[in-house]
Amino acid sequence: MRTSMILSFLLFFVICLGLTFIGCKGEQGPAGPPGEGFTGLEGFAAGIKCATCHSSDQDTVYYVAARRYQWSTSTHAIGGRSERNAASCAGCHTTEGFQQRWREGWTTQVVKQVDNPSPPGCFACHSPHARNNFTRRDTSAVTITSFIDGVPDAVFDYGNGNICARCHQTRTSSPMSPKPNPTKTATTDTITITSNRWYPHYGVNAQMLMGTGGFQFADYTYAGSSPHTNNTILKQEGCVKCHMAEPIGGGGGVVGGHTFKTIHEEEVASPVYNLTSCRDAACHGSSFSTFDYISQSSALTGGQGVQTYIERYLDTLGTMMKDTNVVKKWTVGTPKPWLTASGTVNASASSPLRIVPASRAGALYNYFFLEHEGSFGVHNSKYAIQLLQSSIAELRKP
Ligand code: HEC
Ligand code: HEC
Ligand code: HEC
Ligand code: HEC
Ligand code: HEC
Repeated sequence: MRTSMILSFLLFFVICLGLTFIGCKGEQGPAGPPGEGFTGLEGFAAGIKCATCHSSDQDTVYYVAARRYQWSTSTHAIGGRSERNAASCAGCHTTEGFQQRWREGWTTQVVKQVDNPSPPGCFACHSPHARNNFTRRDTSAVTITSFIDGVPDAVFDYGNGNICARCHQTRTSSPMSPKPNPTKTATTDTITITSNRWYPHYGVNAQMLMGTGGFQFADYTYAGSSPHTNNTILKQEGCVKCHMAEPIGGGGGVVGGHTFKTIHEEEVASPVYNLTSCRDAACHGSSFSTFDYISQSSALTGGQGVQTYIERYLDTLGTMMKDTNVVKKWTVGTPKPWLTASGTVNASASSPLRIVPASRAGALYNYFFLEHEGSFGVHNSKYAIQLLQSSIAELRKP
């Protein structure tokens, strides 16, 4: 008791001391010098009142306590991958690295290694001290690098959701090589894959929403994307609309908001789904009840729900690529499966995977694109289904 009181006083003293340095009387605190490398301090806005956000009571303006709690249950907080703090990873896996990228005007994903890293938190997406509010750190459109030869980079512009795509995009630091190329369809075109990581980095959700980034075979007619791609509300809110629907009303707080979750499954008898945004009157309406939706894509799925369809046929594609008899026609040298039993790319520098015609490797690319995308068709059912169907058709060619 005594010790904790002494500690509290000490803490209070330290904060007061800090405040005299940063200017608690309201003058502008020292802003982090832009461009001069990482300082970790963005400063405090003039006239900032600490208790607006740090109150002993519950605030009903920003609900900081509730939002902090929600965030603390999110994968951002507890996914555990902020140990990816090396130069080429920290820019998306840590708050400190993300701030560095922002300072550099997003010109590079490679930052200085972050020691004592913290996961993507409040000060990644916001700058509450320097701005004295919770506006998004950045809302500008995001250019996402294309990893398919001949396909231009894509510009992601979904308003409020743009901050998400700053990280939920392919990683440029270790680009897959060689890139797949839809025009390499001649029987003399061979692609040599030497890495078991021959796929774009995991967060391809933004590309999926836009309907880009997948491998499109030259002789297959792709008929566009699902209504999500150009929906007026989603064009303004993007990822935020669905993943951060406000947890208001009964049962709030385990999905949506700063949990970023669409489903809560831990320690509950049946999963809690975040259907708030789907049920928007301008979207699916109040009776909407499932992510496994039978939508405009029904004709493509033979009437199955989109998630059921994607999971089933993703499995089919994976099984085909594990079967030497299926893929040997398109493999140079000693026939071997394209995927290992555990589902990784069956290639290394000493035992490369050679595919002919090279364009056929697009099926392998699409498999990982869909597998890592994570929504199993929710983000863009029509595009996802077509990528899958064209890939399976490609491997079934005589
Ligand atoms: C606009 C809201 C806002 C205002 C105003 C604000 N802060 Fe903060 N501050 C935050 C948020 C959000 C965090 C992140 C920590 C958390 O609550 O999870 C934070 C974190 C901190 C931390 C780190 C504590 C920790 O455990 O992470 C300190 C110290 C701090 N603030 C001091 C201050 C001081 C001093 C002032 C007034 C000069 C102030 N803040 C004003 C929002 C604010
Ligand atoms: C600073 C980079 C960054 C930003 C900005 C960011 N994310 Fe993330 N996100 C990540 C990382 C990294 C992970 C994986 C974390 C881990 O596993 O440790 C992740 C995980 C997630 C997950 C959970 C994935 C899973 O498999 O459980 C969701 C959902 C998500 N993010 C949605 C969003 C949304 C929505 C936004 C925008 C509001 C956003 N993210 C903004 C980096 C970011
Ligand atoms: C451009 C941003 C970005 C960079 C740079 C980045 N990552 Fe990630 N990474 C993400 C996001 C976003 C996720 C979460 C994706 C999801 O859950 O859909 C993620 C997920 C992961 C995962 C989890 C994969 C899984 O199966 O769930 C691992 C492992 C990982 N990253 C490792 C790394 C390593 C190692 C580096 C550096 C060499 C790195 N990342 C660089 C954005 C990035
Ligand atoms: C991955 C990005 C991300 C992280 C991390 C994040 N936020 Fe947010 N936050 C957002 C986005 C996007 C919105 C806008 C939500 C909307 O429009 O519905 C938002 C909205 C808010 C708002 C409401 C803003 C307003 O003007 O009413 C508050 C308050 C807030 N966040 C606090 C926090 C706190 C506190 C933390 C840390 C515990 C945090 N955020 C972490 C992305 C993030
Ligand atoms: C139309 C609503 C909607 C939009 C827009 C949307 N998502 Fe999702 N997303 C979902 C749903 C629903 C799931 C869960 C599917 C499942 O697991 O059943 C999901 C799954 C995910 C996952 C897989 C991990 C998880 O939490 O299940 C990630 C990561 C993700 N979304 C990120 C994003 C990002 C980043 C954006 C913006 C580029 C985005 N989403 C846009 C609805 C949406």
